[in-house]
Amino acid sequence: MSAVLLHFHDLAGRGVLITGGGTGIGAALTSAFAAQGARIAFIDIAVEESRALAKELSATSEHPVHFIEADLSDVFAAQAAVKEAAALLGRLDVLINNAARDDRQDLETVSEADWDGSLAVNLKPVFFTSQAAVPFMREQGGGAIVNFSSIAFMLNMGELPAYATAKAGILGLTKSLAGRLGPDNIRVNAILPGMIVTERQKRLWLTDASIAAMIERQCLKRMLVAEDLVGPTLFLASSASAAMTAQWIIVDGGIL
Ligand SMILES: NC(=O)c1ccc[n+]([C@@H]2O[C@H](COP(=O)([O-])OP(=O)(O)OC[C@H]3O[C@@H](n4cnc5c(N)ncnc54)[C@H](O)[C@@H]3O)[C@@H](O)[C@H]2O)c1
Repeated sequence: MSAVLLHFHDLAGRGVLITGGGTGIGAALTSAFAAQGARIAFIDIAVEESRALAKELSATSEHPVHFIEADLSDVFAAQAAVKEAAALLGRLDVLINNAARDDRQDLETVSEADWDGSLAVNLKPVFFTSQAAVPFMREQGGGAIVNFSSIAFMLNMGELPAYATAKAGILGLTKSLAGRLGPDNIRVNAILPGMIVTERQKRLWLTDASIAAMIERQCLKRMLVAEDLVGPTLFLASSASAAMTAQWIIVDGGIL
């Protein structure tokens, strides 16, 4: 089903912040939330693509779509960006922690700086953006946080030690935040994508052969794309999942 056809009425007018919303899966999410009539801001470092997306969506959406340039590995910048988003949107109801970097690492050569750099993008901001968003969600009487993990940490992928550690850590963090924030009616869930074929993935890591091999492992015999994450994310952000927290959804076409 096309993402545009999905409609979660309660998302109209909500304040939604998406990290890494300028390209890839994040861009599909930004577009989909805009199509719901939500008020959107997204944080990214990909300036050119993000400006173009914000301009395009602002021209066709009910509310302006705000791009905030910030490096999420800088905690101060990340938290300042969350506060800026809440001010621009007038409210903050939904936080989608989607930004990541799946750099490959070699066991023999990975340095302390490489390790810290990966966790600084892939794990640390998930906590600190949430910490900054919570006061604004409390003002609304609740909210929803959706954290992007990955099935990669369960596939024994030897070239992703820090990324796999971060993505597994996100599940622990999701459950801890859910426990802490449930009394505030703030729900915290996670999504684990499988192999999602984006332009960046094709440019950096994927080949026709590796895509075919992954499809072979999937129950569903087709390529998964960014738009396949839209339905599950809208669902976890909306009141359709009002009684769900501390959970995760695997969107991998049936690999696991
Ligand atoms: N594509 C896949 O196959 C796949 C599979 C499993 C999980 N995931 C997860 O889904 C999410 C989205 O994946 P994607 O493939 O679209 O990722 P991507 O790398 O293409 O995009 C991530 C976005 O985050 C932004 N970003 C990166 N570092 C940043 C920083 N320091 N500060 C601000 N923004 C930053 C990038 O510019 C980009 O727009 C990620 O969490 C990823 O780990 C993706």
